[in-house]
Amino acid sequence: MLSNKPMIIAHRGAKGMAPENTLAAFRLGLSQGCEGIELDVHLTADEEIVVCHDMTLNRTTNGKGLIAEKSLSEIKTYDAGLWFGDEFKGETVPTLDEVFDLVPDSIMINVEIKYSYDGRMEHKLVEFLRRRNRLNNVIVSSFDHKCVRRIKQMESEAKIGLLYQSKLLDPTAYARSFDVEVYSLHPYFQMLDAEDVLKATKSGLYVYPYTANEVNDLVHLTGLGVSGIITDFPGRLKDLLQTQ
Ligand code: G3P
Ligand code: CA
Repeated sequence: MLSNKPMIIAHRGAKGMAPENTLAAFRLGLSQGCEGIELDVHLTADEEIVVCHDMTLNRTTNGKGLIAEKSLSEIKTYDAGLWFGDEFKGETVPTLDEVFDLVPDSIMINVEIKYSYDGRMEHKLVEFLRRRNRLNNVIVSSFDHKCVRRIKQMESEAKIGLLYQSKLLDPTAYARSFDVEVYSLHPYFQMLDAEDVLKATKSGLYVYPYTANEVNDLVHLTGLGVSGIITDFPGRLKDLLQTQ
């Protein structure tokens, strides 16, 4: 029996079994017992926050073009489920509001900012989180560490996470070198070792590696004592943790 089981975080929803970053994928993750949801955000031309991994609509919808150049109403005309399977026909690119309406307050939401050109996303997201009163159970992460630092400077209650995919010499020292409080580390799972986890958790940092799907990787990360695991298959991780 594990004393500290990792939080089950559904990557872009239950991405392995439903079209990523759709309400269907988030619903499936919730039904499979996830305790957190990871998603990606972009700004539309009319400055609405929508949930999509890529900058363009090309891969995950039947539309084409840059999200930043389309209005929300145009984006909503495209199907975001059909590419994955006929049973998902009718899914659309959700707004962040729609996801927050769906996901209970008890579930952690990890919002990943993909790109920030001019600071507009930071302002819009902070305004959004204040309006939704969900700062306490949301982590804003990015590979752009200056971007999440700006989030924390704007809103001291925000929790910020650092995404990285390299083998850093000392991730904890790096996080603690910031002039604002960093909440969590989000390493590519193969770049994490026992020393990193121990040092980070001792220092009060949470550790949420991405994106592990194979059973042996899930077992390994659980053994390292990570705070949570970002996975395309939350149900698989749930089953595994139940057997331990
Ligand atoms: O947040 C973890 C993970 O989602 C980062 O990579 O490309 O899946 O957004 P990506
Ligand atoms: Ca992501």
